[in-house]
Order: sequence, then structure tokens, then C-alpha cells
Amino acid sequence: MSTPLPVPSATATPQSLPEGPIRPGTEAHKRLFCRTLLDTFNPYKPAVIDWPKLESEARERLVSLPIWDIAVQTEGRARLHVATYAAGCADALLRQAIELNAFEEGRHKHVLSNLVTAYGIKLAPEPEYLVPRDPEWSFMVTGYSECIDSFFAFGLFESAKRSGFFPAELVDTFEPVIQEEARHILFFVNWAAWHRRTMPWWRRPWFELKVAAVWLFLVWERIGIARDMGNGVQDNNFTMTGAKQVGADIDVRELIGICYAENSRRMGRYDARLLRPRMVPTLARLALRLLRSPKPAAAA
Ligand SMILES: [Fe+2]
Ligand SMILES: [Fe+2]
Repeated sequence: MSTPLPVPSATATPQSLPEGPIRPGTEAHKRLFCRTLLDTFNPYKPAVIDWPKLESEARERLVSLPIWDIAVQTEGRARLHVATYAAGCADALLRQAIELNAFEEGRHKHVLSNLVTAYGIKLAPEPEYLVPRDPEWSFMVTGYSECIDSFFAFGLFESAKRSGFFPAELVDTFEPVIQEEARHILFFVNWAAWHRRTMPWWRRPWFELKVAAVWLFLVWERIGIARDMGNGVQDNNFTMTGAKQVGADIDVRELIGICYAENSRRMGRYDARLLRPRMVPTLARLALRLLRSPKPAAAA
């Protein structure tokens, strides 16, 4: 049983947002991306979520998704990594925003824990979560991996909704969790842009090397995950196997198209002056161009 999480209190003090154009790396930029996260906080409480009763077939489909262990563990690790980085932040507003991010990761874990209990899903024992030695590295690994995973999660969630894989009540229950990940990646890419512009010049080359190393690490991790999939190990990159399960006969191109459209829709809700995650949507656009639609079959 997880302990109740204290709801952050300081989020109840909205301040005015900066006006006019915003230059990344300025005080106004920091205020805009921090306030956007804080002021869009959704105070839902996992404990009062009323889990809808599912038909036995729908419940079976949910239970058999190969994601629950890794999903719970990913949220647990994300909470610790984000909270550790927040603790070392000298800037009060930035710290407050990152603490809220950590709170929301912990709340995601709480929601998932309640879901697995409600539907009788058996979890593997959780590993011990270790405090990271390099909080900046762990915060960046969490942020960039959310940029990859959320992009696909948006599309899978939409496919599951369209195919009826998730009953409508479950879709409604999960909607705030999915939108929170959109807020997190929006916050993270703006933090990264602000951070690299405000650090001393001599730290910048090291930071850029770190960014490149994080991406290489995430690619390597996902290749490892793909290999493990064949061995029956649960993974957090269930995009393709998950797509088959949640979207029936959806093809890769169609799935990427849905992910791209959903990403644009979810990101479109926020202040247009904020930077958006670019890497994964750009690669997705490229993939859409390369994966041309199959030619219509010749008339018999
Ligand atoms: Fe999360
Ligand atoms: Fe997140």
C-alpha cells in the first residue's frame, strides 16, 4: 500500500505571465515555463478514482498488456530522479515547478498501483530505487526518455480509444495522466533551453556532450529493450506490440500519423511562446515521408 502523497500547496498562488515575445534563456522565459506547469496543475486524487467495472473480456485485455511492471517502476524511478534534481535547485520558482513534476510522477505511480489492485494484475516485486549520483544526468535521462515515450503513448492511447480497447470510462480516468506527461515534456525542453543558456560558458561544452550521451544511452536502452521483448521481458517500449494489442490491425505509418497528430493536439493547448519537443516529431515526420502509403491494389 503506498503512502498518501501531500498535495503541493504553493501552486495555489498564480502570478501574472510575462507579456510579449519571449527569448529562451531569459528570466521571462523561466517564469513562463515554470508558471505554465504550476498553473495547469490538476489536483485529482488517486485515492478517490472510481475504477470502472469492466466486462471480463475488457479486463482480460487490460491484464494481459505487457507493461504494468515497467510502468510502475518507471514512475517510481522518475519521481526519485526528478525530486533529487529539485532538491539541488537554487532558484525558488524552478525548484517549486520541478517539485511539482516529481509529485506528479509519484501520483502516476499511485494511480497505476491502484489500477493493478482494482483489476487484480500481478506485479513483479519492485527493485530498490537508488538516489542518483549525478542528479542532472538522471533528470535529463528522465526528461528525454519522456519525450520519446510520451510521443508514442499519445498515439497508442488514441488508438486504444478509437478501437474500443479501453472502455470510455477508463479513457476518461487516464486522460489526466497522459496530459500530465505532455506538460512534463513541454516543461523539460524549455528547462533544457533555459539551462544551457544560463550556465557559465565553460560548462556548456560538457553539457552538450551530456545531452548527446543521454540520447545515445536512450537509443541503446531501447535497442536492449527490443531484444528483451523477444525473451518475454516486460518493457516500456511497447509501441509496436502494444499497437497490435490496442489498435487491432493498425499499420506503422498509420500509428506514427496518429502519434504525430495527437502530439500536436496536446501541445497546442499551451502558450505558443514556449518551445516544443522537436526531436521525436521531426523523426516521425521523416518516417511518414519514407513510409509511403501502399499503392492501391490493381483492379482485378
Ligand atoms: Fe509519469
Ligand atoms: Fe512525467
